[in-house]
Amino acid sequence: MTTCARIVSTGMAVPDRIVTNEDLRQWMDTSDEWIRQRTGIEQRHWVRPDEPEGASDLGLRAATAALDEAGWDAQDIDLILFATLSPDIEFPGSGCLLQHKLGLETTPAMDIRNQCSGFLYGLATADAWIRAGMARRILLVGAEVHSTGLDISTRGRAVTVIFGDGAGAACIEASPEPGILATRLHAQGEFAGCLMTEAPASRHWPRIDAQMIAEGRHFPHMEGPTVFKHAVRRLPEVAAEVLEAANVSLDDIDIVVPHQANLRINQFVARALKLDESRVVNNIQRYGNTTAASIPIALHEARQDGRIAPGSTVLFLGFGAGFTWGGAVCRF
Ligand code: UT7
Repeated sequence: MTTCARIVSTGMAVPDRIVTNEDLRQWMDTSDEWIRQRTGIEQRHWVRPDEPEGASDLGLRAATAALDEAGWDAQDIDLILFATLSPDIEFPGSGCLLQHKLGLETTPAMDIRNQCSGFLYGLATADAWIRAGMARRILLVGAEVHSTGLDISTRGRAVTVIFGDGAGAACIEASPEPGILATRLHAQGEFAGCLMTEAPASRHWPRIDAQMIAEGRHFPHMEGPTVFKHAVRRLPEVAAEVLEAANVSLDDIDIVVPHQANLRINQFVARALKLDESRVVNNIQRYGNTTAASIPIALHEARQDGRIAPGSTVLFLGFGAGFTWGGAVCRF
């Protein structure tokens, strides 16, 4: 019998500190109106500067919730996949830090550096490992702490207002029934410079210096309109590709869980796919863009409120830095 992989549980965690659009005005020239109109965001969660947490700390909380729901002990995990662009430290990866925090001794842990598509790259990797018989139970985490690395002055406003901190997790298990029906992944490094944090940089000696800091090259840089233009083209394209690979039509999809980069991007995509917006999960209003965490957080909330139930067929879509993008179709 062919072994398939399916998502059996999910969890999420965000810091308890809420930063509203109005709060941002104390540091930068912006407005609630601008942020809501251009992005849909009303608030985001940021770690507390006096008690900062790393990506693996938020990841641990999300993972613990997912493990509880699955009824797994940490010892049951065959592989940890950790997607983040904001690892706790330069190296080793946050997956190793999470592995230790879970009380594990030698369970393998692998970091995935694919930004907003990180969870989808992780899902494809988990599916492949399980199908190949290399693992039966995989913990996949997407977690970000953006707030400790943002330029909160007016210089950084076009980027800073969109990002939030958070983590989402999923337990993925070998199953005789198909769960992950198909995944499709893409990357286009030609556009790496359109959305990046450059320093510390191994191609630079030393990796970071006073001049780089003065120029803000340790903060994220984004050519927003370029990213937007590519996202609204690539997301419908990969949706068609992954639906065909899964051999399902859009009518078979109960709900779409897209990456939460900008509410306007998701509205564009819904229109391009001729989907009523009620069939698209959006929670960017409350969390901002949590990058690798946004898809698993949206998935968790949609499972919690019953929009995703046993038997639901779900289309996942993501696009971001790299550029990277991808899609997945899963049955629950
Ligand atoms: O998840 C990773 C993938 N990321 C994305 O998918 C992001 C895609 N891009 C976007 O979502 C949008 O490009 C943004 C929301 C980032 C920006 O929206 P935009 O409509 O593309 O604005 P813009 O960058 O073209 O800037 C328009 C104006 C500029 O002023 P001028 O030059 O027209 O006078 C900016 O200086 O808005 C100004 N501006 C702001 N004003 C108030 C930029 N940021 C802000 C701000 N508050 N926070």
